[in-house]
Amino acid sequence: MINFQDPEFLADPYPELAELRKIGKPIWHEELGIFLAATHADSNAVLRNRSLGRIFKPKEPSEQWDTFNWLHADSILDSEPPKHTRLRSLVMKAFNPKKIESMRPDVERITQSLLEGIELKLAEAGQFDVIADFAEPLPVKVIASMLGFPDEDEHLLRPWSQAIVKMYEVSPSNEDKRQAQQASAEFAEYVHALMIERKKNPGPDLITDLALVEEDGEKLNAHELIATCVLLLNAGHEASVNGFGNGFVAALKNEAQMSLIRQSPDQHAATAIDEFLRFDAPLHLFERTATQDTEIGGVVIAEGQKIAALLGSANRDESVFENADQLDLTRDPNPHIGFGAGIHFCIGAPLARMEMATSLPMLMKAYPEIGLASEPRRRPTFVLRGYESVFVTS
Ligand code: HEM
Repeated sequence: MINFQDPEFLADPYPELAELRKIGKPIWHEELGIFLAATHADSNAVLRNRSLGRIFKPKEPSEQWDTFNWLHADSILDSEPPKHTRLRSLVMKAFNPKKIESMRPDVERITQSLLEGIELKLAEAGQFDVIADFAEPLPVKVIASMLGFPDEDEHLLRPWSQAIVKMYEVSPSNEDKRQAQQASAEFAEYVHALMIERKKNPGPDLITDLALVEEDGEKLNAHELIATCVLLLNAGHEASVNGFGNGFVAALKNEAQMSLIRQSPDQHAATAIDEFLRFDAPLHLFERTATQDTEIGGVVIAEGQKIAALLGSANRDESVFENADQLDLTRDPNPHIGFGAGIHFCIGAPLARMEMATSLPMLMKAYPEIGLASEPRRRPTFVLRGYESVFVTS
């Protein structure tokens, strides 16, 4: 059975995931105590089946995990209807496709300023890091500005977010746990202070909108507001950074495909982005718990048992995608489930697509000769799959 910590598996999980799909039904992983759904059909069914819920299990001891626990229990992602419906509906209008389209000029402006920084790096060092200098700051700046976090606090956000999301890995270390507890407390306190400030000095941002709803007292309480802002900040960039980085490296290692976006980036940007997310998924595993006995792919998940949808595996399923193990930046249709499915389908999908499909052509036009300067360094993680750094030259 898969060892999720094996460095060889982490370097390239796809051969073992293909073996898992061959079994053709969910399989019990004894060590993790969870079923794994590896095919597209089974993963999709896990995400859509309403008797499989996102049931958050508070961490123990509760004194140490208090803030971390409510940041999750009171978030959109870790709640189920009717609470999920109420919380999700409060932010949905901020993410509708029209609103997102209106943000394109901002995304272009931010991308342009990052390209100017890159120009300096290239002049100084002859190389730059696609992750730290481009893929990471763009979504952080966009979601932070949507929420209304002051620019000067940006440096605080990614470290808090990274410390919290490390808990989604299969076996976090004790130091990871300590850092997640501390980051949860600091981030929650920070948003709380901002909420109070925005009630006094409203701004054109999501925190202000939510603070007014909270003040009204009926639809949102303070913990729910804080949990929503923290979730939006975290979910609003972690997967985008890694999705861009994973796909871009795959393209850089496949010149026949890369030449498509070197030569006509505008024409291929939209399909390229979805293929980036399909080919080497930034998010690999999402759990559900059976609220009653539930059948998935011919296997009964007993009430209380857990099952994981393996999104990266589903997106390589040969029965759905022709030449599934090949990167095809023109793939269309591309029914990948990298943004999930069912009631928890990613709220930020239109934003993530717009950010990436805007910034990729700008990067390619600025540096059509871009190429790897050295072998990129991967993070040794499975659930959030991504690169530490990707140094390139032009
Ligand atoms: C490439 C980028 C992204 C990917 C691959 C991605 C993927 C996902 C997936 C797979 C889920 C569902 C999880 C589950 O079913 O358990 C999800 C949920 C969510 N995502 Fe994204 N996401 C991305 C970007 C974003 C952005 C930019 C935002 C917000 C600004 C965002 C906000 C959310 C939220 C709030 C949820 C929870 C939805 C709910 O529970 O109803 N995501 N995302």
